[in-house]
Amino acid sequence: MKADADPNLIVYFGGEYVPMREARVGILTHALHYGTGVFEGIRAYWSEAARELYALRPIEHFQRWKQNCRILHIDVLFTPEELCSITVELARRNAFHGDLYIRPLAYKSAERIGVSFDEQDNFFIAAVPYGEYLHSENGLHAGVSSWRRIEDNAIPPRGKICGAYANSALASDEARRSGFDEAILLNESGHVTEGATCNLFMLRKGRLITPAVTDNILEGITRDSIMELAAHELGLETVARPIARSELYVCDELFLTGTAVGVAPVVRVDHRPVANGAVGDVTRRLRQLYFDATHGNLPAYRKWLLPVYASGRPVEQNTARVAETSLA
Ligand SMILES: Cc1ncc(COP(=O)(O)O)c(C=O)c1O
Repeated sequence: MKADADPNLIVYFGGEYVPMREARVGILTHALHYGTGVFEGIRAYWSEAARELYALRPIEHFQRWKQNCRILHIDVLFTPEELCSITVELARRNAFHGDLYIRPLAYKSAERIGVSFDEQDNFFIAAVPYGEYLHSENGLHAGVSSWRRIEDNAIPPRGKICGAYANSALASDEARRSGFDEAILLNESGHVTEGATCNLFMLRKGRLITPAVTDNILEGITRDSIMELAAHELGLETVARPIARSELYVCDELFLTGTAVGVAPVVRVDHRPVANGAVGDVTRRLRQLYFDATHGNLPAYRKWLLPVYASGRPVEQNTARVAETSLA
């Protein structure tokens, strides 16, 4: 799914809440030319039963964002808790009552020619209504990409660095033009890394296996959630180890995880069925557990959720522009 942005949505940009149409960057902005930005993707899920919007693990996302910004010498001065408050305020100002995708992005903002960094940074947080990213309930057909995953020594994949996503875009575009739903990228050693925008798990001989964080992957927060759900709810520990390409063809179950995709079963790889070609039992159960946990249905996992409307402070102003960030 693609989310076309409504220009009237309120975004947080340059320290103010402004309509998106007023949040503009100049054509010489460093990040536009050289990809020198770091972004995040955070979900918020609407629960009709609770009449509440739950931001999913926002603290962990903002922690990862701030850590990754250090790779590009970008300093986001707010704490993760303060960034959560801005996000809650943003959702309230837009009066969102449905699923969201929240996009924080920090970038080198100097407007000049020249690749080396300087100290000028800026950031924004935008949130857009967002439904299902891939219709994956009945399983996806994934294809191994001819593009290799970028190496940590080239552009660190764990960094969520804007420029690195040309690699994901090339793989994703190729996959779709070739009739696949999603790409799977190998690293330069030929091992499986991840999808274009998601992590990968396989089940083999009763063991849940995922590539290690040193295999040029993003250290996914959904990956972490799935490992916790698998261990605590299904008694399945995850092994992190290199995965050979041909293991994709002989494994018992395969699925992708990510903020956008959630838990997406893969039922075919490179025109070969995964096991019997149906969604596997462990995948189905983890998908349901993840749905329930992220929609507030499992008390043990409420720790992952930040309720937008029940989080205390009422929204007094519904106007677009306020000078201060009105942090709690
Ligand atoms: C390349 C890549 N891998 C994995 C993921 C999944 O990470 P997360 O679960 O933190 O969204 C994403 C999505 O953000 C991604 O872009």
